Amino acid sequence: MTLDTYRPRRSVLYIPAANDKALAKIASLACDAVIIDLEDGVLAADKATAREKLAGIFTARPERRCEMLVRVNALSTEWGADDLLAAAKAEPDGILLPKVDKPRDILEAGDLLDDNFAPDSVKLWAMIETPKALLNIGAIAELGRDPASRLACFVAGTNDLAKATGALVTPDRRYLMPWLMQLVLAARAGGLDVIDGVANDFRDLETLARECAEAAAMGFDGKSVIHPAQIEPANRAFSPSPEALARARAIRDAFAQRENAGKGVIALDGRMVERLHLAEAEKLLAKAAIIGA
Ligand code: COA
Ligand code: MG
Repeated sequence: MTLDTYRPRRSVLYIPAANDKALAKIASLACDAVIIDLEDGVLAADKATAREKLAGIFTARPERRCEMLVRVNALSTEWGADDLLAAAKAEPDGILLPKVDKPRDILEAGDLLDDNFAPDSVKLWAMIETPKALLNIGAIAELGRDPASRLACFVAGTNDLAKATGALVTPDRRYLMPWLMQLVLAARAGGLDVIDGVANDFRDLETLARECAEAAAMGFDGKSVIHPAQIEPANRAFSPSPEALARARAIRDAFAQRENAGKGVIALDGRMVERLHLAEAEKLLAKAAIIGA
């Protein structure tokens, strides 16, 4: 991700494609991205009718304030290929592929999009929710370095990961943490964004806020959310804090002073500050300007 292509993805909201009442809310919600779900949020009996709704949902989409994606069923299922073609026609900002195990899963979906003339603006996001995906994560992430792959973002599927591994989900998510950190590392190696998994108890906003704060500290760009009440806490946690912004301004101003013009390293409030910190500070300030923080 470069700054000119920066899109905030602090809150990524799932909406089942079969839920008309929830769909009608899109324009009024402050989430950074919406995922219209055809996969686990839709019963098998409703899959076909849910898919048929995509065209209408995207025709009626509000101005491009938030990104809009479609989560299809895996290509290995009976619905996958039809989902992908219907999603491509709707020209979403991205298509989220579930149960990605290996690079080939991304390449296959990309080929189908290319063969059906989906514009380059239709990106691929990958759910990382299987043991195989985590074992192959470096190779999958590497695709992010090739724009032709369309791969733009990883989404942690923590519910499926817990189910597939047998790992116990504790309030502090301690047994999931090594895999989540590995996911962040791989995403950065591939130049990808990375979104944390959902907090299932949507009435417990305290736990949500804690998970968001942890995820932000771990390097995630945002949180998957399932209910409107979860949007604001996620947006807050993944926005630069007032303290971080003040510090970034101080670093920028210090390097702008004439006596520091030729220096690679300076002292600021008793701490060493290098040009890499200046670059980081400038990036943070630019992101904050885009978010409107
Ligand atoms: N997107 C948009 N609006 C939503 C929403 C969502 N994901 N979830 C709930 N809402 C709306 C409801 O329609 C309701 O609207 P209303 O005030 O006009 O009646 C309002 O927010 C309050 O909803 P509430 O009554 O608290 O919850 P609910 O019982 O209607 O829905 C869930 C609870 C979990 C069923 C629902 O939030 C949901 O389906 N979330 C997404 C689940 C999903 O996609 N899972 C798969 C991926 S993990
Ligand atoms: Mg899943």
